[in-house]
Amino acid sequence: MGQNSSQVPRMTSPVRVIVTGAGCRGEIYSNYASVHPERMKVVAVSDPRKFARTKLQKQHNIPDENIFEDWHSVLERDKFADAVLICTPDRLHKEPAVAFAKKGYHVLLEKPMATTAEDCTAIVEACIQSGVMLSVGHVLRYDPLIQKIKELIDAGAVGDVIHIQHLEPVGYYHFAHSFVRGNWRNEAESSFALLAKSCHDIDLIHHWAGARRCVKVSSFGSVSHFQKKHKPAGASDRCLDCPIEKECPYSACKIYLDTVKQGHTGWPVNYICPSSFPDIESVTEALRTGPYGRCVYECDNDVCSNQVVNMEFEGGVTAAFSMVAFSEEICIRKTTIYGTKGELSYDGHEIRVFDFLTQRSTKHTADSKAHWAFGMTGHGDADYHLIHAFISAVANNDPSLIRSGPEETLLSHLLVFEAERSRLEGRVVYCEDKKHS
Ligand SMILES: NC(=O)c1ccc[n+]([C@@H]2O[C@H](COP(=O)([O-])OP(=O)(O)OC[C@H]3O[C@@H](n4cnc5c(N)ncnc54)[C@H](O)[C@@H]3O)[C@@H](O)[C@H]2O)c1
Repeated sequence: MGQNSSQVPRMTSPVRVIVTGAGCRGEIYSNYASVHPERMKVVAVSDPRKFARTKLQKQHNIPDENIFEDWHSVLERDKFADAVLICTPDRLHKEPAVAFAKKGYHVLLEKPMATTAEDCTAIVEACIQSGVMLSVGHVLRYDPLIQKIKELIDAGAVGDVIHIQHLEPVGYYHFAHSFVRGNWRNEAESSFALLAKSCHDIDLIHHWAGARRCVKVSSFGSVSHFQKKHKPAGASDRCLDCPIEKECPYSACKIYLDTVKQGHTGWPVNYICPSSFPDIESVTEALRTGPYGRCVYECDNDVCSNQVVNMEFEGGVTAAFSMVAFSEEICIRKTTIYGTKGELSYDGHEIRVFDFLTQRSTKHTADSKAHWAFGMTGHGDADYHLIHAFISAVANNDPSLIRSGPEETLLSHLLVFEAERSRLEGRVVYCEDKKHS
């Protein structure tokens, strides 16, 4: 799967999309219509937040009759677009994905697909039965350097893959923002950390291991540090009035207020003002009253801050994955792939391959043709390539352009659920042969 994502779609009119969930991700993917109006048109938006849907309406000149407060209302109409971009919160993926697929819309669904293995399977079944394409928001699959790793493996650069070591450093303030104070802090409201944050990474490991079946998996992890018992003496419940805020690396004043004072209004500052543009006043108000002003030791967070997963794939290939909150780097993954003929290492910027026979190293970088408007989205240009591939697939009726399609994505999601089961049950999980059962 996955041909050259820079391929220009053959089309006579733009692909018409409906955006469901006009938050951060919905807005990013919609940018594609501003950059390539001849390829994609945003024809409708649904979001209960007036600020979010109005922003998208203005950006894309959407008529009033196509602005909805909820995705259910969109489906009351006859089909009026080619595809839907489902960018709602984690627990609101399955229902719209199944319903839009049944109505004949091609589906771009944000990751994680859904929060249970059963719901993920139901989405894939609905898309297959309805004959619509499904692309899941595994943006890293579209990162040119990560794609290069797979090309090098397939070209035999390291011989047979024997072991994969992969690290996801989430970043200390990113973790505090998203997983202690923010939307993904609490499993009952969103999903567990391995699914919410690292389903990308387990998917890559599975992909690099040749999409073989995982036979056994074990996992350990917990919430460290971000708990009441670690609250420093004298700290307040909110950073704005905390006497020791200056000594705290997780201070909301540092993460948001100092940032907006320096003129930065993008992520994460824009996230904390859901009904207005961020400025010093709105950010201060958000810290005074909203969830992002809370002391990190006084939140209702319960998702793991550090987790390891060990995997054994068919044929004896092994993999070790680590996710950790407490890092300087923000999501810049580090990978080493050990093969029978060489070692490939990736530091997030460059790939180096050491050849055991010649004892020489070669370095590889990758060119990206992404538009600058996507450069600031947090995944470099991978977001651009994902939406480009999806729109090209729909325009050309060619699902092979999608690299995060139903079958492999479902298998890697199921592996994430098995890994979490191992962590919760404290035992090695022997995975079922889902592909063949
Ligand atoms: N692919 C990636 O790398 C990546 C990165 C971040 C987030 N995500 C995932 O993308 C999804 C969206 O995340 P986000 O950061 O954009 O969140 P967000 O909170 O910015 O946006 C979600 C939007 O959905 C809207 N919404 C809620 N209920 C709705 C309904 N019934 N109908 C229509 N809209 C509704 C909310 O009002 C909000 O505007 C989540 O599942 C998240 O885990 C993926």
